[in-house]
Order: sequence, then C-alpha cells, then structure tokens
Amino acid sequence: MLYLFQSLDRFLVDNQLLWRFEPFFASRTNTLPWLTDNAPLCAWLESLSPEQIEYFKLDNEALVEAICDYLPHIKQITTWTNLPTLKTHSLRLPRGVDSGVPGRKLQQIVSMGEAALNSHHGSEWLEWCSGKGFLGRILASQSGQRVTSFEYQQALCESGQREADKQGLMMNFVQGDAFSPDSINAFNTNQHAVALHACGDLHVSLINHGVEKQLPALTFSPCCYHLIRTETYQPLSGAAKQSTLNLSKSELRIPLQETVTGGERVKRHRAEEMTFRLGFDLLLREATGIEQYQPIPSIKKSQLSDGFEAFCLWASTQKAIELPEVDYAQYEEKGRQRYWQMERMSLVQQPFRRALELWLVLDKALYLEQCGYKVKLSQFCSRETTPRNILVHAIKD
Ligand SMILES: C[S@@+](CC[C@H](N)C(=O)[O-])C[C@H]1O[C@@H](n2cnc3c(N)ncnc32)[C@H](O)[C@@H]1O
Repeated sequence: MLYLFQSLDRFLVDNQLLWRFEPFFASRTNTLPWLTDNAPLCAWLESLSPEQIEYFKLDNEALVEAICDYLPHIKQITTWTNLPTLKTHSLRLPRGVDSGVPGRKLQQIVSMGEAALNSHHGSEWLEWCSGKGFLGRILASQSGQRVTSFEYQQALCESGQREADKQGLMMNFVQGDAFSPDSINAFNTNQHAVALHACGDLHVSLINHGVEKQLPALTFSPCCYHLIRTETYQPLSGAAKQSTLNLSKSELRIPLQETVTGGERVKRHRAEEMTFRLGFDLLLREATGIEQYQPIPSIKKSQLSDGFEAFCLWASTQKAIELPEVDYAQYEEKGRQRYWQMERMSLVQQPFRRALELWLVLDKALYLEQCGYKVKLSQFCSRETTPRNILVHAIKD
C-alpha cells in the first residue's frame, strides 16, 4: 500500500499541469494550456465534436484509451485504481428493514452491510453519522447485536429511532456533533464502527476516535473530501505528510466531479446553466471591466427557460452591478463556445479524478496501518450505484 501511495503521489506531482486547474476559470482563454508542451494533444481536443466530448465524459475507459495516444503514461492510472470488487450475495432482509430506503441507497447499504457482517469484529456496532440509520438497521437485524447510531440532526435521530423501535431492532440513536470532544463518549472498545458516506472531516473524526479507543474494526466509505474545516487538506499518514501536494479545498472537489447519471434533462439543464454562467462572466469582464470573478447564487432550474438575458439581469441585480447595453445573443454564443472549451479541458483532468481519490483514501488506510490495523480497500458497489464506492475495511491486528 505504501508503494502504491508513493507511486501515485509522484505521478500526481509530476503531472500537476494536467489536473491542477479549474476548468471553469481556465476556459476564460481560448488557448489550451498544453499547447507548447503537447500540441498533438491540443489538436486532438480541438478536433472533438460536442457529441464526442459527451461520449468521453460518460466513458472514462474509452477516454483513457484515446488520450493515451498523446499522454501514454495515463494508462498507469487504470492499473493503480483498479480496486477489487467485493463479492456480495445480496442479503435476505426481513420484511420492513428496507422501509423508506430509497432504491440506490438500498443497494449501497445492502452491499456495505454484507461487507461489514462478513468480516465483523466486535460484539456491537457504532454507526457514525448515521442519518436515519438505514445501514444500522441491516446490521442490527442480521447480527442481533446492539447498534449505536450517532447523528447530528435531531429530526433524523427521532425518525430513525421510531422506525427501529417499530421493527423491534436493538438500535439506540445518539444525537451529537462528531466534532465535539464529547463525541468520543459514543465509542466503546466492543464496537465495530461503520460509516456510509461520512463527509470529509467526519470520516477523519471517526478514524481519530476509533484509533484512540482501539476499536476492533472500522468499515467506512468516504465522500465529499472537500468538506473540511481547514483551508487545505491535512494528511494523516506519515507518507502523505511528506508529500508536496498541498491540496486546496477546490482541488479536493476534483474526485467528485463525475458526470451525474441524471438523464438527458439534467444534462441539458447543466449545459444551459453553465453556458449562462460562463457567458455572464465574459460579459462582466468585457463590457463592464470587472475582472474579478463574481460568484452567482444557485438558480432554480425553471429560471433557465426565461433565457440568457433574463439570467444576466437577475444575476446583475443579485450582485448590485449595473449592466451597459450589450448584445446578449453574442454573449450567449460566447458562453456556449466557452462551455465546450471547458468540457474539452475537463477531459484531460478526468482520468486523474480517481487517482486523486485513491491518494486521499490511501492516506487514511496508511494511517490506520500505522496505528496497528490491517487494512483492505475494495469497491463495495458499482459506480453507477454510487461513484463514491470505495470501502476501507480496517481490523485491529
Ligand atoms: C452524507 S450523509 C450520510 C448519512 C447516512 N450514513 C447515509 O448514508 O444515509 C452525512 C450525515 O452526517 C450527518 N452529519 C453532518 N455533520 C455532522 C456532525 N458534525 N456530527 C454528526 N453527524 C453529522 C448529516 O446530518 C448526515 O446525516
């Protein structure tokens, strides 16, 4: 694992120019940033039609295959990030345990629950940042052991407790803040801790408390790496502390920038909204001389149908900026061209997303190893079920 981390780290550092940028901002100029170093790559990117760009966005394997003609070393990422897929046999759930669990979430908790149950160490469970405790229900019903579900939102605790009581499950919801020092009181040395999609520093707090209390096992899937309380990423392991990658919050978002599998309508809305935002940014800079990026609040999708001009008028009111007379149709077209330029540039960053995610996960895994745990990494479900499908399973040695 250490060797993999170090190889990945060197690779990410050596190839920074290919992934360390924000396509939204980098697309302000028409020139691709790799023109001097790799003109053939840029010519290929420029030759892609919108349909081809859409195709490569959805098919990372095809993208890697194609981009390897210009960046052969990128192939290496596929080997590094190819984690074993957990073999699950679909648990049989007693009636009611899945009540109220949305479809995709159900697949996730069933796979993760099975993984935790198959390698269970301890005589009770702790479900960290549990939400309504969907995963905890499976663990309680299958193992017959006590589950403590720790969650910040009182309403989720209440509804989770109600459902657990209704089903006669041995679950106890504890409302608390994972960042408060008291949260360690939810831990005890008999627990196998689990967390499905605990964001950023929340999974870090699980690791820290778990290690301090010497829990027999921890099984978790990290997500939202950018939700941290510091400005930059704080590595845990000795190896990551030595790395020169000093990841900013916006870089920590890179692994999450998968294409959402939301169908044609969602795709069209995103393209339209980005076109408007990019066009408005150009309009501000060219027609008003405002050079600094003006963040615009999120909009209701229904607002898009009012058109680009209405969007600009709304956005300028939000920012208290007076707009001069401009040719809106021209800026909308510029926004559209810039949108495709942004998408072109994103294709170069795309293969690095999983590499960066693995770097972040390996940091946690190495830290747990440092603290005396045996750690396995795997994929607990398909990427279509959730792109955040990496499972860290740590057992006290
Ligand atoms: C991404 S959700 C995952 C919920 C659940 N594990 C699931 O997969 O359905 C993260 C959960 O963490 C909870 N949370 C956020 N901040 C927290 C904090 N400071 N302490 C405890 N829980 C927190 C949220 O309320 C939310 O339920």
